[in-house]
Amino acid sequence: MTRPIRACVFDAYGTLFDVHAAVRGLAGRIGPRAAEMSQLWRTKQLEYTWVRSLAGRHADFRQVTKDALDYSIQFFSINDKTLSSDLMALYEKLDAYPEALGVLRHLRALGIKLAILSNGTPDWLEVAVRTAGIGELLDAVWSVEDVGIFKPDPKVYRVATRGFGMAAADMGFVSSNAWDAAGAATNGFRALWVNRSGAPAEYASMVPVRQVANLATLAKEFGLE
Ligand code: LAC
Repeated sequence: MTRPIRACVFDAYGTLFDVHAAVRGLAGRIGPRAAEMSQLWRTKQLEYTWVRSLAGRHADFRQVTKDALDYSIQFFSINDKTLSSDLMALYEKLDAYPEALGVLRHLRALGIKLAILSNGTPDWLEVAVRTAGIGELLDAVWSVEDVGIFKPDPKVYRVATRGFGMAAADMGFVSSNAWDAAGAATNGFRALWVNRSGAPAEYASMVPVRQVANLATLAKEFGLE
Protein backbone atom coordinates (compact mmCIF):
# COMPACT_ATOMS: atom_id res chain seq x y z
CA MET A 1 0.00 0.00 0.00
CA THR A 2 1.25 3.52 -0.74
CA ARG A 3 2.19 5.47 2.35
CA PRO A 4 -0.37 7.95 3.67
CA ILE A 5 -0.01 11.65 3.02
CA ARG A 6 1.22 14.03 5.77
CA ALA A 7 -0.32 17.21 4.38
CA CYS A 8 -3.11 18.13 2.03
CA VAL A 9 -3.23 21.25 -0.12
CA PHE A 10 -6.50 22.54 -1.55
CA ASP A 11 -7.30 24.75 -4.48
CA ALA A 12 -9.78 27.42 -3.37
CA TYR A 13 -12.08 28.72 -6.11
CA GLY A 14 -14.27 25.95 -7.48
CA THR A 15 -12.86 23.39 -5.05
CA LEU A 16 -13.68 24.68 -1.54
CA PHE A 17 -15.70 27.71 -2.65
CA ASP A 18 -18.52 27.56 -5.18
CA VAL A 19 -17.59 30.06 -7.91
CA HIS A 20 -21.14 30.06 -9.29
CA ALA A 21 -22.68 31.19 -5.98
CA ALA A 22 -22.22 34.91 -6.83
CA VAL A 23 -24.29 34.80 -10.04
CA ARG A 24 -26.86 32.51 -8.39
CA GLY A 25 -27.32 35.21 -5.74
CA LEU A 26 -28.28 37.79 -8.39
CA ALA A 27 -29.81 35.47 -11.01
CA GLY A 28 -33.09 37.41 -10.99
CA ARG A 29 -31.28 40.54 -12.23
CA ILE A 30 -29.37 38.66 -14.92
CA GLY A 31 -32.19 36.66 -16.47
CA PRO A 32 -32.57 33.21 -18.02
CA ARG A 33 -28.96 33.04 -19.23
CA ALA A 34 -27.48 33.60 -15.76
CA ALA A 35 -25.89 30.14 -15.50
CA GLU A 36 -24.32 30.52 -18.94
CA MET A 37 -23.00 33.92 -17.97
CA SER A 38 -21.44 32.50 -14.81
CA GLN A 39 -19.76 29.76 -16.85
CA LEU A 40 -18.36 32.29 -19.34
CA TRP A 41 -17.12 34.46 -16.46
CA ARG A 42 -15.23 31.50 -14.99
CA THR A 43 -13.85 30.38 -18.36
CA LYS A 44 -12.60 33.87 -19.24
CA GLN A 45 -11.21 34.40 -15.73
CA LEU A 46 -9.04 31.30 -16.09
CA GLU A 47 -8.08 32.14 -19.70
CA TYR A 48 -6.89 35.56 -18.59
CA THR A 49 -4.70 34.01 -15.86
CA TRP A 50 -3.01 31.78 -18.43
CA VAL A 51 -2.59 34.55 -21.03
CA ARG A 52 -1.15 36.97 -18.48
CA SER A 53 1.28 34.34 -17.18
CA LEU A 54 2.46 33.32 -20.65
CA ALA A 55 2.73 36.95 -21.77
CA GLY A 56 4.64 37.97 -18.64
CA ARG A 57 1.97 40.55 -17.75
CA HIS A 58 0.83 39.53 -14.30
CA ALA A 59 -2.10 41.29 -12.67
CA ASP A 60 -3.75 39.95 -9.55
CA PHE A 61 -6.79 37.65 -9.44
CA ARG A 62 -9.11 40.51 -8.53
CA GLN A 63 -8.18 42.32 -11.76
CA VAL A 64 -8.55 39.27 -14.03
CA THR A 65 -11.83 38.37 -12.33
CA LYS A 66 -13.17 41.88 -12.96
CA ASP A 67 -11.93 41.90 -16.57
CA ALA A 68 -13.61 38.53 -17.17
CA LEU A 69 -16.84 39.68 -15.54
CA ASP A 70 -17.03 42.89 -17.58
CA TYR A 71 -16.44 40.89 -20.77
CA SER A 72 -19.20 38.43 -19.83
CA ILE A 73 -21.69 41.18 -19.01
CA GLN A 74 -21.02 42.77 -22.40
CA PHE A 75 -21.14 39.42 -24.19
CA PHE A 76 -24.68 38.81 -22.92
CA SER A 77 -25.67 42.47 -23.54
CA ILE A 78 -26.79 42.92 -19.94
CA ASN A 79 -27.67 46.53 -19.25
CA ASP A 80 -27.27 46.97 -15.48
CA LYS A 81 -24.81 49.60 -14.32
CA THR A 82 -24.15 48.22 -10.84
CA LEU A 83 -24.15 44.50 -11.70
CA SER A 84 -20.37 44.28 -12.06
CA SER A 85 -19.61 45.85 -8.67
CA ASP A 86 -22.41 43.90 -6.96
CA LEU A 87 -21.17 40.56 -8.35
CA MET A 88 -17.57 41.40 -7.41
CA ALA A 89 -18.73 42.06 -3.84
CA LEU A 90 -20.49 38.68 -3.73
CA TYR A 91 -17.41 36.95 -5.17
CA GLU A 92 -15.50 37.85 -2.03
CA LYS A 93 -17.94 35.85 0.10
CA LEU A 94 -18.67 32.73 -1.94
CA ASP A 95 -20.41 29.77 -0.29
CA ALA A 96 -18.19 26.84 0.62
CA TYR A 97 -19.34 23.45 -0.72
CA PRO A 98 -21.53 21.73 1.89
CA GLU A 99 -19.09 18.89 2.64
CA ALA A 100 -15.96 21.11 2.82
CA LEU A 101 -16.02 21.96 6.52
CA GLY A 102 -16.60 18.36 7.66
CA VAL A 103 -13.83 17.01 5.43
CA LEU A 104 -11.30 19.57 6.64
CA ARG A 105 -12.21 18.77 10.26
CA HIS A 106 -11.85 15.06 9.61
CA LEU A 107 -8.45 15.35 7.91
CA ARG A 108 -7.19 17.59 10.67
CA ALA A 109 -8.35 15.14 13.34
CA LEU A 110 -6.26 12.53 11.51
CA GLY A 111 -3.19 14.73 12.04
CA ILE A 112 -2.89 16.00 8.47
CA LYS A 113 -1.53 19.49 7.89
CA LEU A 114 -3.93 21.52 5.74
CA ALA A 115 -3.46 24.49 3.45
CA ILE A 116 -4.96 26.43 0.57
CA LEU A 117 -2.83 27.24 -2.48
CA SER A 118 -4.77 29.58 -4.72
CA ASN A 119 -4.66 32.09 -7.53
CA GLY A 120 -6.69 34.35 -5.21
CA THR A 121 -5.27 37.49 -3.67
CA PRO A 122 -4.28 37.25 0.03
CA ASP A 123 -7.08 39.63 1.06
CA TRP A 124 -9.78 37.78 -0.91
CA LEU A 125 -8.63 34.46 0.51
CA GLU A 126 -8.64 35.86 4.02
CA VAL A 127 -12.26 36.99 3.70
CA ALA A 128 -13.38 33.76 1.99
CA VAL A 129 -11.75 31.59 4.67
CA ARG A 130 -13.28 33.69 7.44
CA THR A 131 -16.74 33.64 5.83
CA ALA A 132 -16.61 29.85 5.48
CA GLY A 133 -15.46 29.48 9.10
CA ILE A 134 -12.49 27.25 8.17
CA GLY A 135 -9.64 29.47 9.35
CA GLU A 136 -8.79 27.51 12.49
CA LEU A 137 -8.55 24.27 10.49
CA LEU A 138 -5.89 25.55 8.09
CA ASP A 139 -2.15 25.66 8.81
CA ALA A 140 -1.53 28.01 5.89
CA VAL A 141 -3.27 30.00 3.16
CA TRP A 142 -0.90 30.62 0.26
CA SER A 143 -1.56 32.95 -2.65
CA VAL A 144 0.19 32.99 -6.03
CA GLU A 145 0.93 36.63 -5.26
CA ASP A 146 3.97 35.25 -3.34
CA VAL A 147 5.52 34.37 -6.72
CA GLY A 148 3.70 36.76 -9.10
CA ILE A 149 2.55 34.18 -11.62
CA PHE A 150 -0.58 32.01 -11.90
CA LYS A 151 -1.08 28.25 -11.79
CA PRO A 152 0.04 25.94 -13.29
CA ASP A 153 3.52 27.51 -13.25
CA PRO A 154 5.79 25.17 -11.23
CA LYS A 155 6.88 28.12 -9.06
CA VAL A 156 3.36 28.17 -7.59
CA TYR A 157 3.40 24.53 -6.47
CA ARG A 158 6.85 25.03 -4.92
CA VAL A 159 5.24 27.55 -2.52
CA ALA A 160 3.53 24.55 -0.87
CA THR A 161 6.55 22.22 -0.69
CA ARG A 162 8.67 25.07 0.67
CA GLY A 163 5.92 26.20 3.04
CA PHE A 164 5.47 22.81 4.70
CA GLY A 165 9.12 21.75 4.21
CA MET A 166 7.93 18.43 2.78
CA ALA A 167 8.44 16.48 -0.42
CA ALA A 168 5.52 16.82 -2.83
CA ALA A 169 5.19 13.01 -2.72
CA ASP A 170 4.11 13.29 0.94
CA MET A 171 1.41 15.82 0.13
CA GLY A 172 -2.06 15.46 -1.32
CA PHE A 173 -3.31 18.13 -3.71
CA VAL A 174 -7.03 18.55 -4.34
CA SER A 175 -8.52 20.62 -7.15
CA SER A 176 -11.78 20.73 -9.08
CA ASN A 177 -9.77 22.12 -12.00
CA ALA A 178 -8.40 19.25 -14.09
CA TRP A 179 -5.56 21.46 -15.34
CA ASP A 180 -4.59 22.44 -11.76
CA ALA A 181 -4.65 18.84 -10.55
CA ALA A 182 -2.49 17.93 -13.56
CA GLY A 183 -0.15 20.83 -12.76
CA ALA A 184 0.25 19.59 -9.19
CA ALA A 185 0.76 15.99 -10.35
CA THR A 186 3.52 17.01 -12.77
CA ASN A 187 5.22 18.62 -9.79
CA GLY A 188 5.10 15.39 -7.81
CA PHE A 189 2.01 15.89 -5.61
CA ARG A 190 -0.49 13.11 -4.93
CA ALA A 191 -3.15 14.97 -6.87
CA LEU A 192 -6.88 14.29 -6.96
CA TRP A 193 -9.27 15.89 -9.43
CA VAL A 194 -12.69 16.65 -7.92
CA ASN A 195 -14.88 16.06 -10.96
CA ARG A 196 -18.29 17.13 -9.65
CA SER A 197 -19.97 17.28 -13.05
CA GLY A 198 -18.65 13.96 -14.37
CA ALA A 199 -16.76 15.74 -17.17
CA PRO A 200 -14.57 13.69 -19.53
CA ALA A 201 -10.98 13.00 -18.43
CA GLU A 202 -8.38 15.59 -19.43
CA TYR A 203 -4.57 15.72 -19.58
CA ALA A 204 -4.30 11.94 -19.55
CA SER A 205 -1.47 12.14 -22.08
CA MET A 206 0.40 14.56 -19.79
CA VAL A 207 0.12 12.89 -16.39
CA PRO A 208 -2.30 10.42 -14.79
CA VAL A 209 -4.57 11.96 -12.11
CA ARG A 210 -7.20 10.10 -10.09
CA GLN A 211 -10.75 11.46 -9.92
CA VAL A 212 -13.28 11.79 -7.10
CA ALA A 213 -16.90 12.97 -7.34
CA ASN A 214 -16.68 15.36 -4.38
CA LEU A 215 -14.57 16.06 -1.29
CA ALA A 216 -16.26 13.52 0.99
CA THR A 217 -13.99 10.52 0.30
CA LEU A 218 -10.61 12.24 0.53
CA ALA A 219 -9.37 10.49 3.68
CA LYS A 220 -9.95 7.10 2.07
CA GLU A 221 -8.46 8.16 -1.27
CA PHE A 222 -5.27 9.27 0.46
CA GLY A 223 -4.90 6.00 2.39
CA LEU A 224 -5.75 7.50 5.78
CA GLU A 225 -8.54 5.05 6.61
C1 LAC B 1 -7.65 28.92 -7.57
C2 LAC B 1 -8.35 28.87 -8.90
C3 LAC B 1 -7.62 28.06 -9.89
O1 LAC B 1 -8.28 29.05 -6.49
O2 LAC B 1 -9.62 28.38 -8.80
O3 LAC B 1 -6.42 28.86 -7.60
